[in-house]
Amino acid sequence: MRLLVTGGAGFIGANFVRQTLAERPDTTVTVLDALTYAGNRASLAPVADRIDFVHGDIADLDLVDELVSGVDAVVHFAAESHNDNSLADPWPFVQTNIVGTYSLLQAVRRHDVRYHHVSTDEVYGDLTPEAAAFDETTAYNPSSPYSATKASSDLLVRAWTRSFGVRSTISNCSNNYGPYQHVEKFIPRQITNLIDGVRPRLYGAGHQVRDWIHVDDHNRAVLDILDRGRIGQTYLIGADGELDNKSVVRLILEAFDRDPDDFDHVTDRAGHDQRYAIDASLLRSELGWTPRYSDFRSGLAATIEWYRDNESWWRPHKALTERAYADAGETEISTTH
Ligand code: NAD
Ligand code: DAU
Repeated sequence: MRLLVTGGAGFIGANFVRQTLAERPDTTVTVLDALTYAGNRASLAPVADRIDFVHGDIADLDLVDELVSGVDAVVHFAAESHNDNSLADPWPFVQTNIVGTYSLLQAVRRHDVRYHHVSTDEVYGDLTPEAAAFDETTAYNPSSPYSATKASSDLLVRAWTRSFGVRSTISNCSNNYGPYQHVEKFIPRQITNLIDGVRPRLYGAGHQVRDWIHVDDHNRAVLDILDRGRIGQTYLIGADGELDNKSVVRLILEAFDRDPDDFDHVTDRAGHDQRYAIDASLLRSELGWTPRYSDFRSGLAATIEWYRDNESWWRPHKALTERAYADAGETEISTTH
């Protein structure tokens, strides 16, 4: 199998490439990545001599066409992925997530190459505390520029599949955690703050709920879908890991032997989604997928250990990331609950 992996220098893509080569040594992998602020070649260092790395943009039609013509399948991870950045400047999200996906779809259409599209549960908007979890039939209702552009890209995939016969599958996954995640994201930000002796930063009251899944479980599901998924089908990926943000911060503080209230409430995110939750029944029943990381606490402990052991990987990005949050106006707030 010859795979083109877009965004393979990012968090989930790099974990996917390393995992795929470890479990399927016969696979040939080409990574296409623009190395934006979120891409890091160091994440691929352990497999550097086993992949072809192409530094380029998924919106470059000629480059994408040439690369797609030489592979059996494309797994498309590349994206602008951070909600807060999309609120500060939506344009790169439109360009990469929508135009970039268009470019890949035109190439897989022309060369009749199998295509897997990696998407997010955020396309469905958010849930009230008592609502049933998202499933494959939930209507799209995105809230942020990030999730709106991901929803747009999903719809392009569905149209290219129906109208042009593109052999595609889509997966919509919940919040990932694990090694090699950029320090702008919630869990790595709090871990690296605590390593630096800085208090964790909780948006608003911290009652929002996310459905956490270990990145390796997400990527195993992607491989299962690539192998045995039905063409034209969407699969939701989630590991029944619902937790509110305050509880996550408290678990991280506990792992650092710190007082559970040793965090700051800061300015809330505009349009902040309240709750995500995934019903992954279809993936489990049809493809036999089950998560291997069923205990969030131990997955979190391993992730904390990874950040402690790999300071050289994240340190160059920490100060800049924190400055961006400060420049965006993040300030401490008081809350009564
Ligand atoms: P990330 O931001 O860590 O990595 C994105 C990668 O894409 C980076 O390596 C970046 O350099 C690359 N990239 C960005 N623009 C590009 C372009 N124009 N051309 C080529 N490469 C480009 O993102 P992530 O968290 O690893 O997310 C990967 C995918 O998974 C995204 O599509 C995201 O929407 C989806 N997803 C993420 C999560 C999560 O919890 N992180 C959950 C569900 C789905
Ligand atoms: O649900 C899947 C999505 O999960 C992916 O599509 C996105 O690419 C990924 O970034 C993630 O989106 P979120 O916005 O949920 O993740 P983030 O890590 O930014 O924030 C998680 C929660 O924590 C969210 O409710 C906001 C909150 N938060 C975040 C940061 C950075 C804080 O309370 N404090 C923080 O410092």
